[in-house]
Formats: sequence, structure tokens, C-alpha cells
Amino acid sequence: MNIVITGGTSGLGKALVEKFEKKGDNIIILARSVESGNGIKCDIGNNESVKSAFAEIAKIFGNIDILINNAGYGISGATELIPVEETKKIFDVNFFGALYCIQNALPLMKSGAKIVNISSACALFALPFRTLYCASKSAVSMLSNSLRLELSTAKIQVCAICPGEIKTNFTKNRVKHFATNERYGKRIENATNHIDKHEDSRMSVEFASTKIFNIIGKKKLRPQYIIGGKYKALYFASKIFPLSCILKVTGKTMGGKK
Ligand SMILES: NC(=O)c1ccc[n+]([C@@H]2O[C@H](COP(=O)([O-])OP(=O)(O)OC[C@H]3O[C@@H](n4cnc5c(N)ncnc54)[C@H](OP(=O)(O)O)[C@@H]3O)[C@@H](O)[C@H]2O)c1
Repeated sequence: MNIVITGGTSGLGKALVEKFEKKGDNIIILARSVESGNGIKCDIGNNESVKSAFAEIAKIFGNIDILINNAGYGISGATELIPVEETKKIFDVNFFGALYCIQNALPLMKSGAKIVNISSACALFALPFRTLYCASKSAVSMLSNSLRLELSTAKIQVCAICPGEIKTNFTKNRVKHFATNERYGKRIENATNHIDKHEDSRMSVEFASTKIFNIIGKKKLRPQYIIGGKYKALYFASKIFPLSCILKVTGKTMGGKK
């Protein structure tokens, strides 16, 4: 299999690369800090960079069997106070990065190919002070679901994978904005500390990557997979209880005290 993965230099992506390589697949990593021979330096938030990476991939592979849109990062802070350039940047990477890769990969994909988009549980549940990350991942999930419909007759499968919190460099790399005003008081700092405090209860990379590796290997992909028991349970609850109840739960647990 010829596989292209974005962000295979760290965390989830790196663990997936190791698994596919062990299986004997050909894998190319697109990331900004690639070192080894199986990677192409690429900033997925820049379409020119993505275009030139795929031109190289076309020469190396000819065709692509699986595209895994994994690269991404988080951002936290009060939506009102995050500088507009930062708000655009997260969409450039998390959403447009996936879109650019899809548009450049599709001409190299045939019937039987797969597009796997690593979204997030944050696409399913609204979280205060992580609004922009939630919104960028919701956009990824909707891109994934709608694209699945467009490509169904071409027999190219598309799926979104929504993991809960995984122990990677994600927390360290999250862009944290602590700017506040009298409206929010200490809530931003408290909410951010609350997320970081739970680092030890996060899923291990091994657990999450094994689940995702097995999903990608399935003959028939469902449109969406949620990784992590408690996130599956909350999703189930969100189908039964009104949105206002679910928002109360996520707002109370993640909203930080003033
Ligand atoms: N960890 C979690 O709790 C969690 C939960 C749900 C979903 N996710 C999603 O899972 C995916 C992987 O995250 P992770 O947890 O493995 O985080 P990570 O350890 O921080 O890895 C992020 C990866 O994305 C790459 N990347 C970031 N910006 C990039 C850019 N502009 N161009 C190319 N590559 C870029 C990084 O590579 P370079 O720095 O080399 O470019 C790195 O390989 C992300 O989409 C994240 O949103 C994570």
C-alpha cells in the first residue's frame, strides 16, 4: 500500500507510521520537521508547499492508496481576545491543510482508495475556551462526511476519526492564550489548568494508534469513529438528551471557575 500521512513526526502520527512500516507498507510523511528518508518537508497550511510535496509524491508513488490527514494543533483562550491572525492560522492548518491534501491527493487516487481524517472528540462536544479548535475540527468532520458522499460512486472511502484526549505533545504544543478581562476573570487560566491537569488520565498513544491502525485496515469504513470509552458514552448521551443538557455538562466541567 502507498500511504501518505501528514504530521507523522510526533505523537499519534509517528506511532501510526511505525505500525504501517512494520506491516511493510510504503509511507511518506508530510511535516515541517521531517528528518529521515520517508518524509517530505511540508507546511500543510500553505497550499504551494502541499502542491510541491504531492508533485514529488506523484513521482515516487504514482498512485496513493491511503491519505491520512493527521497533522494539527490546538489552541485555547477566550474567543473574544485571541488575535485574528491566530484564529485564521488554526483553520489554515487543521481545516485547509486537510482540504489541500485531499485536493492534491485525489488525482492520484483510484477506486478502493481511502481518505482518513483525524478529527477530534472536540468536533462533537462544545468546549469553552477551546472554541476555535472545536470549530476547526467540526469543519474537518463535516468536510469528511460530505466528501464521503461525493466520492461514493468513485468507490473512494472517506472517514473521520474522533479521538478523545491522548498523551502526546499536543498539550505542550497547544497555543495558549491567557488574556482576560472582567468578563472572564480567572476562568481562562482555571479552564486551561484543568485540561493540563488531566494529562495522566489521557489515553496512551499506543492504545489510540492501535485502534486507528485497525480501523484504517478495515475493508469497509464507517463515516465516523470515536476513540475512547467516555467520549463514546457522552456521544451516546448527546443523542438522547437535549443539547442544552450536554452544554451544561461540558460547560460546568471545562468552563473554569471565576
Ligand atoms: N492528543 C490529543 O489529545 C488529540 C485528541 C484528539 C485529536 N487529536 C488530533 O490528532 C492529531 C495528531 O496530534 P498529536 O496528538 O499527535 O499531536 P502532536 O504530537 O503535537 O503532533 C502533531 C503533528 O502535526 C504536525 N504539524 C503541525 N502543524 C503542521 C503544519 N503546519 N504542517 C505540517 N505538519 C504539521 C507536527 O509535525 P511538525 O511539527 O514536524 O510539522 C506533528 O507531527 C491532530 O490533528 C490533533 O488535533 C489529538
